[in-house]
Amino acid sequence: MIKLKVNDQQKVFRGDPDQPLLWFLREELSLTGSKYACGIGACGACTVHFNGVPVRSCSMPMSAMSGAEIRTIEGLASPVAKQVQMSWQEMDVVQCGYCQSGQIMSAVALLERNTKPSSKEIDEAMDGNICRCATYQRIRAAIEDSSDKLGA
Ligand code: FES
Ligand code: FES
Repeated sequence: MIKLKVNDQQKVFRGDPDQPLLWFLREELSLTGSKYACGIGACGACTVHFNGVPVRSCSMPMSAMSGAEIRTIEGLASPVAKQVQMSWQEMDVVQCGYCQSGQIMSAVALLERNTKPSSKEIDEAMDGNICRCATYQRIRAAIEDSSDKLGA
C-alpha cells in the first residue's frame, strides 16, 4: 500500500508498484488533464509536480510515490499558477491543446521558483516539452508576460 497526496488530498494506491503515476492519475482518479503521448519521458505531455518539481508522470513508478505530494493541472491554485493561466489565455497560446497542460505545469514550476527567469532559464525549464503545433513562440510570450506581471 502506497500513501500519497494528490492536489492536497490523501490517496491510497494498492496496485502494481511498477505502474506509472500517469495511469493512477488518469484511470483511478479521473484526472485526465495530464496526457499520455510518448510514454517514455520524451515529450512532456504528462508533466505533473512531484514535491514541487516537474516530472514526467509516464515514467515515474508508483513505488516512488510513498509520501509524495503530487500536483496536477486540475490542482493548480497558487497566485503564480493563476497568472500563468491568465497569460496563456491572453496570448492565445493553445492550438490543438494536447501538450498544453504539460507546458503549463513546467512553466508554473519555473515561475514558482524564479519569477524573473532569463531567456536561458526559460529554455532550460521548457526543454523537452514538445508541441507538435509549434506554439513555442506564444508559450515563451506567455511566460514572459507572467514574469512581468508577477514582478509588477
Ligand atoms: S507521455 Fe510522458 S513524457 Fe511523453
Ligand atoms: S498545441 Fe498542439 S501539440 Fe501543442
